[in-house]
Amino acid sequence: MKEISLTGIKPTGDLHIGNYFGAIKPALELAKTYDARYFIADYHALNTMKDPAELNTTIRQVAAGWLAAGLDPEQVIFYRQSSVPEVFELTTMLMAFTAKGLMNRAHAYKAMVQDNTEKGNDPDAGVNMGLFTYPILMAADIILFDSDIVPVGKDQVQHIEMAADIAQSVNANYGKPVLKIPRAGVQDDSAIVPGLDGRKMSKSYNNTIPLFVPEKTLRKTIMRVVTNSQGVEEPKDPDSSQIFLLYKLFASAEEQAALASRYRAGGMGWGEAKEELFRAANRELTPMRERYDAIMADIPALDKILAQGAEKARPIAAATVTRFRKAAGVQ
Ligand code: ADP
Ligand code: TRP
Repeated sequence: MKEISLTGIKPTGDLHIGNYFGAIKPALELAKTYDARYFIADYHALNTMKDPAELNTTIRQVAAGWLAAGLDPEQVIFYRQSSVPEVFELTTMLMAFTAKGLMNRAHAYKAMVQDNTEKGNDPDAGVNMGLFTYPILMAADIILFDSDIVPVGKDQVQHIEMAADIAQSVNANYGKPVLKIPRAGVQDDSAIVPGLDGRKMSKSYNNTIPLFVPEKTLRKTIMRVVTNSQGVEEPKDPDSSQIFLLYKLFASAEEQAALASRYRAGGMGWGEAKEELFRAANRELTPMRERYDAIMADIPALDKILAQGAEKARPIAAATVTRFRKAAGVQ
């Protein structure tokens, strides 16, 4: 039997090339050899997104993004978290096995408490219970589908470890393997895509290159990548250049070698380096953008794909919940 790969993306904004190279593309690679289950974590997004029209749109945007990037819904079970209510039943059951102290140690919660404390606010200001229990819902997402590997960025590893801990507590209590223990599948450091300002590309830093913007906007955005003050004639070091790092994501090995020697030779300004980056990015993103636009132009068809995915997901989810209920004596 194939191992199971599962991951989710929170629909909290426009997808960017960090999401694509760090999460979507590797997950789609895994889907070639694993049984894959990929979903839109819409209830996770609800913790921070309270505008209904906006959330409604971002759910479809993220779903269309997966499909445009090449997800084949015949091969991957592809669904919305909110369409699989078993996840909430499992969440409640897992709560009984989750120490509050474990949640106190979750990075996202701790960071908010620290920020509040530094500002002299109430430590829990702005913290809703959805945020506090975020790792339990995520554990349920994972455990529900008997996941073996969860492809995620480094920032999410703690959550997978918590899911494994919680599943282990359940199994230890009943003295049998009721739930599968998941592991994280993490990209190495080089998979951290830098943003326009050189920090990690992230919606929260407002430094992203969005995946599906029109060509003109893509070009304009790329022209905003921060550079140093080296003049046109000066030789440049490709390996310390963020523009080159981004270029590598889109270019073949030969193209990378050729452009690296042009950097080193001097005579090429940053403007031209950005033009080269734009050309390579646009070449890869154009077909994806066209697919994305076509998918977003037919939302009922998109919703149907997601609904069909949920139909396939629910029996798997129900089996896990039934197994757990039996083990727990809740029948
Ligand atoms: P953001 O930081 O923009 O809010 P998310 O936290 O929603 O992005 O991330 C969704 C997925 O994309 C996660 O698996 C995350 O690890 C990955 N990801 C986000 N930004 C990057 C990046 N700059 N480089 C690599 N992977 C990233
Ligand atoms: N917390 C993840 C993120 O912010 C999204 C997510 C929710 C997830 N449930 C998941 C990822 C289950 C992997 C598995 O990126």
